[in-house]
Amino acid sequence: MRYARISGTGSFLPERIVSNSELALELSTRNILTSDRWIVERTGIHQRHLAKSNVTSSQLAIEAAKLALNKAHLEPLDLDLIIVATSTPDHVFPSTACLVQTALGATKSAAFDIQAACSGFIYALIIAENFICAGNMQNLLVIGSEVFSKLIDWNDRNTCVLFGDGAGATVVTASLTSGIISTHMMSDGNLTDILSVKGNIANGKIIGDPFLRMDGQSVFKKAILALEDSARLVCDRANINPNDIDWFIPHQANIRILHLVAQRLGISMKKIVITLDKHANTSAASIPLALDKACNDNRIKPGDLVLMQGVGAGFTWGSVLMRI
Ligand SMILES: CC(C)(COP(=O)(O)OP(=O)(O)OC[C@H]1O[C@@H](n2cnc3c(N)ncnc32)[C@H](O)[C@@H]1OP(=O)(O)O)[C@@H](O)C(=O)NCCC(=O)NCCS
Repeated sequence: MRYARISGTGSFLPERIVSNSELALELSTRNILTSDRWIVERTGIHQRHLAKSNVTSSQLAIEAAKLALNKAHLEPLDLDLIIVATSTPDHVFPSTACLVQTALGATKSAAFDIQAACSGFIYALIIAENFICAGNMQNLLVIGSEVFSKLIDWNDRNTCVLFGDGAGATVVTASLTSGIISTHMMSDGNLTDILSVKGNIANGKIIGDPFLRMDGQSVFKKAILALEDSARLVCDRANINPNDIDWFIPHQANIRILHLVAQRLGISMKKIVITLDKHANTSAASIPLALDKACNDNRIKPGDLVLMQGVGAGFTWGSVLMRI
């Protein structure tokens, strides 16, 4: 049996940390009212990292990728494929993955981006697993990288307090012993309106709204149902009970979503890896950022069973159950 195993993780966050109180103060100068208390109570977020306006997704991705390769004891020339999941690419084209490839000097690799919003990393990991299981690739780099601050309407308190910037990278390697056990991915294009950035570039102009818009309550309700269903499906396929997992790494959007999903699945709260308090929602980067954190602080150990779940615009969602 050939498995896809995560052999290295890395992450990178912009230096600037903005606390809820600092953000609330800044917004108050434009008569937009929010508070640390509201944000913490309704979301669990305490702070976020925000990139400078000239920083791009590829720059964050390159730093995270170098660390992941180092952990995997691999060189860029060992890579067969680079996939970057992002909704904030540097350009329309070339892909952010090609920019990462050239910066690393991974000249024996193919490279492309995928866009599945906050589910992007899970989608990309499942694509990587399929290349490995098909038998024609050995080492892949799967990255989630975002400068979501560029999509935020900083006059909309419903959304601007929720997001942050960052990148997480994983090296995915073919293995005969352990790795990804079961996966699931799904979309519902009927729900495009509940979370979107509808603007596009045409004829030298931005056509339509360039900012993120969200019906928070609809997203909240759909996310819980989708994540619960998807988790049950991957656990059933692997013939395990959800509480048999050692670590639960859901997309880091809202602490109430994380708690409700874990509760419905019977997963102990102690098993949830939480980084949204420090990072806020970093979209496609949130899961690899959390995975890297929990590997680095030795919570996740070799042999552990880990369930990762993404959910986001599209509507898209999915799960990966893996043995570390
Ligand atoms: C966005 C979210 C935090 C809002 O929480 P909520 O409990 O649903 O809050 P509501 O939207 O009902 O708003 C409640 C009140 O707070 C207000 N409010 C919204 N944002 C606020 C803010 N930043 N500060 C203070 N008040 C705020 C609303 O205007 C509303 O006021 P009203 O009752 O006077 O109309 C929550 O819906 C959510 O997390 N949804 C999922 C979002 C998500 O995960 N998105 C990414 C998916 S990948």
